[in-house]
Amino acid sequence: MDARNIGLRNIEVADTKICSIDGNNGKLIYRGYDILDLVNHSTFEETSYLLLLGELPRNGQLSDFSRRLREARALPPELLARMKNRRHTARPMDVLQSSVCELADYDTDLDDDTKEANINRAINLISKIPTIVAAWERTRNNKETISPTSEGDHASNFLYMLSGTKPTLKEAKIFDICLILHAEHSFNASTFAAREIASTRAHMYSCIGGAIGALSGELHGGANVQVMKMLLEINDPPNAERWVKNRLDTGGRIMGMGHAVYKTTDPRSEVLSRLSKILSREKKTQWFEITERVERATQQYMMKERKQAIYPNVDLYSAALYHDMDIPIDLNTPIFAISRIAGWSSHIIEEKFAEAAPKPALYRPKALYVGRYCGPMGCEYTPLADRELVEKIPQ
Ligand SMILES: CC(C)(COP(=O)(O)OP(=O)(O)OC[C@H]1O[C@@H](n2cnc3c(N)ncnc32)[C@H](O)[C@@H]1OP(=O)(O)O)[C@@H](O)C(=O)NCCC(=O)NCCS
Repeated sequence: MDARNIGLRNIEVADTKICSIDGNNGKLIYRGYDILDLVNHSTFEETSYLLLLGELPRNGQLSDFSRRLREARALPPELLARMKNRRHTARPMDVLQSSVCELADYDTDLDDDTKEANINRAINLISKIPTIVAAWERTRNNKETISPTSEGDHASNFLYMLSGTKPTLKEAKIFDICLILHAEHSFNASTFAAREIASTRAHMYSCIGGAIGALSGELHGGANVQVMKMLLEINDPPNAERWVKNRLDTGGRIMGMGHAVYKTTDPRSEVLSRLSKILSREKKTQWFEITERVERATQQYMMKERKQAIYPNVDLYSAALYHDMDIPIDLNTPIFAISRIAGWSSHIIEEKFAEAAPKPALYRPKALYVGRYCGPMGCEYTPLADRELVEKIPQ
């Protein structure tokens, strides 16, 4: 196949009104609004409304939306009880994935596939995913789960359910900005997975379950966990350059660097870098400084050795930032999901209810069959006893 199209690069698979990325100029736009304007003026709740319903809310629409989010925060008690029986070593992304699929059991209108029913489902999931993540964190550490508050915004409620302590206004604001920044990013791997599943007319819980699986991989949302592991391994800022050189010399990748779309700085990483700098100074930790040195060392190495420009992506600075907020490392990716659910559900609704032609159809790409042992076709079937051993199956 054409090498330019590997991984579906350079192929437009659908029209979307939700998000636009200008990878050459480092611009990210949600429904027409620049991400930097949303960071400066909006909140995660308002941004979710914008993504889901297509416009910024007016008059009482935002308070109504926020009220609905607050009212939907609690989990079915049976789901919480089943969580207690899981092995405490279960990965948070796996627990999140199966719990989201389990929420379908409690949806009494599962056969209702209207737009309105799907918007209700999206609100329910935006609201409940943080509760699942916080409940699992406490359950696996043998701590009582903390019920969601009926006040407080989305960001501060999550931080409260995680630690049992009300966050400061500053902590809640920083976390809210992180949620805005991660909420949407066009046809990334997990969103494409969600839309691909939606194209079969599967229900929203299945689509989101698939998206969570895609997000967990280290080339996608899982990268932020690997970034923090790298920072911990480096530990001392002066070690950063040697660590990076060694990793790249031996053919490894530097997680948090590079992007399939941005060919310049990812605007999200600039904001996260500023926030990480503030928090790292306040907490007197080394994580921001190491991250900065990793960024610089990777860029210098790649330019010198491979004549390739490379830039940090959203995962590079979020790792240090979350660590300085005392968030356990393996919750970095579930937190990505807490935010990205807004984008995923908006895309599922767009996929199911696109108004203008060309309307989406069932995704069914072609593959170029290249055969393996005996060319493209025409293999003659030989009975098992007559077959020669051609290759050992690994034991
Ligand atoms: C995200 C990513 C998969 C995008 O890659 P891409 O632009 O589609 O390009 P490719 O994966 O085809 O890589 C192109 C070249 O750049 C190199 N490269 C890209 N990112 C790199 C990184 N982080 N570290 C080292 N080399 C990298 C690759 O090794 C490859 O070289 P090769 O052609 O000699 O194999 C890639 O940059 C990456 O693996 N980054 C680290 C994981 C990560 O942070 N993921 C989160 C993304 S938001």
